[in-house]
Amino acid sequence: MSQASLALSHVYPAGSCVNRRGHLEVGGCDALDLVEEFGSPVYVVAEEDLRARARAFREAFAARHEDFDVLFGSKAFPCGAVCRALAEEGLACDVASGGELHLALRAGFDPARIHLHGNAKSEAELREAIRAGVGHVVLDSFDDLERLERIAEQAGIRQPVLLRVTPGVAGDTHHAISTGQSDSKFGFSIEETPRAIERSRAARALELVGLHCHIGSQLLELEPFRRAVETLARLGDFPVYNLGGGLGVAYTSAQRPPAIEEYVEAVVEACHRWMGRDKRLLIEPGRALVANSTVTLYTVQTVKRNVSTWVAVDGGMSDNLRPMLYGASYEAVLADRPLAEGGELCRLAGKHCESGDVLVREVRLADPAPGDVIAVPVTGAYCHALANNYNSVPRPPVVFCRQGSARLVVRRETYEDLVARDVG
Ligand code: LLP
Repeated sequence: MSQASLALSHVYPAGSCVNRRGHLEVGGCDALDLVEEFGSPVYVVAEEDLRARARAFREAFAARHEDFDVLFGSKAFPCGAVCRALAEEGLACDVASGGELHLALRAGFDPARIHLHGNAKSEAELREAIRAGVGHVVLDSFDDLERLERIAEQAGIRQPVLLRVTPGVAGDTHHAISTGQSDSKFGFSIEETPRAIERSRAARALELVGLHCHIGSQLLELEPFRRAVETLARLGDFPVYNLGGGLGVAYTSAQRPPAIEEYVEAVVEACHRWMGRDKRLLIEPGRALVANSTVTLYTVQTVKRNVSTWVAVDGGMSDNLRPMLYGASYEAVLADRPLAEGGELCRLAGKHCESGDVLVREVRLADPAPGDVIAVPVTGAYCHALANNYNSVPRPPVVFCRQGSARLVVRRETYEDLVARDVG
């Protein structure tokens, strides 16, 4: 590792560095070469980083508990290559729609290790899940329960189910991604849970195997996870508990989230304490698996100075909606001089017709100019997933980089793609 590589912050994918040309390198590939080859904007995934995080979850569990499974919360990065890489690393999969189920099956996940979620699953989605032979259907309401009971009965099967409970634990996160509180559109409240347990036990076509909770996303503290375990344990003794996802990541250099191992240690320890050692434990991380694996590369189009200095790039809210939706903070560097000192305080703006389309509100950039390549790290989670076609901007490609070779895994959308569904 060169001296310079030490200075890149921990938010970049493992193995990223500043190479001999002084450029940002991800997965062994020079950022400027990547833009030359694939254009911009482009999502660049360091495949080794992604795989290593999957292994870290599994190894942390394996060292502490016998019967477990780690499910990829596929909504975080719904892409065949990501799913395949994680399946190869031994992960199972959490899906929250028929579309995600389709993607997971296509990527080769064992159907028995695909688990279906959703607070408004349709009849068709439930049928698709049963036809595929998914492991658990996670029930979210009495309507959901009754609908699945009828469909499973018709199919002549007994479907293993979990009940999603909102344990009344609120993590410290943005309200739009906090899900553990009682007044939530998700799951059964603590008060309703005994009746839901009774009702599912009475359903012959359903096999109630356990409880599920997901208290929120981007949680940077471990205590809410422990409290959720304690709450679930008080609701009855079951063979299976699924504790959801939610572990937060560092978006900026100042953030120090718990390490994967610390998180696993905390939840396993809480489960052993409150539930005993003989349970099957599942977790379903999304963000903590994929967020830091990816960097988005943009090209500067214009630099404008009025009250602020506006550096506008060729992407924005169509490839990263998170700053607009959640006020999320990101950092950015110039890819050909990532360690340049000083620099001017800039706003990194997107190209869309909204004043709020600002990717980074405050970033120091040294003499930014049109044509410069900008790298925004930590874009693996919920960026490709939330990408959209506002202003009819084609969505970016996804490129996997590993040991210096780059492989296109999702191609850039074309103008033809944009009109492909126009039938009238
Ligand atoms: N399990 C369930 C039932 C979930 O609803 C979620 C995420 C996960 C697992 C994975 O959670 P994670 O480990 O990624 O925190 N679009 C938002 C995040 C929404 C999270 C939705 N549920 C964002 O960009 O921050």
